[in-house]
Amino acid sequence: MKIAVYAGSFDPITNGHLDILKRAASLFDHVIVGVLNNNEKNGLFSPEERVDMINDATHDLENVRVMHFNGLLVDFCDKVGAKAIIRGLRAISDYEYEVRMFAANYHLNSKVETVFLMSQPKYSFLSSSVVKEIAYYGGNINDMVPPNVAEEVKKRVNKR
Ligand code: PNS
Repeated sequence: MKIAVYAGSFDPITNGHLDILKRAASLFDHVIVGVLNNNEKNGLFSPEERVDMINDATHDLENVRVMHFNGLLVDFCDKVGAKAIIRGLRAISDYEYEVRMFAANYHLNSKVETVFLMSQPKYSFLSSSVVKEIAYYGGNINDMVPPNVAEEVKKRVNKR
């Protein structure tokens, strides 16, 4: 059974993340979306809310499960029996950070591989931060995130 973890902050999940997730789900038997549960990081959504939104957006993906995790990613991979970490790469600007994270994870546990999937060009500009910024200024985010997420982001930024 080949299990992979697609880890991230997902505050919130975007269509770019979803595309990487779907492609990973076609390569592995199971993909676990690991939502970082970092209380120090002041997100727009709590880890529980992020998990709920991702569950809603992925209910048609049978081999995908969503969980949040604390601590080291490689320890979470061990806990769930995953031998691979999935990361999306949008552009060369992502590369330096991703290489450092790969090196740290590989140093900690070389049995867990990192698999990089390139974002589709149409998503190369897309990030959770871009979505939040556009929403704060009243821009249209409907084609950047799943419909349930767009609704929640709009509600949340209007409250602030
Ligand atoms: O979507 P992000 O914010 O780029 O995801 C980063 C994430 C959650 C994958 C990364 O911060 C992480 O793995 N955090 C857990 C702590 C850890 O294992 N750090 C060691 C690698 S540097």
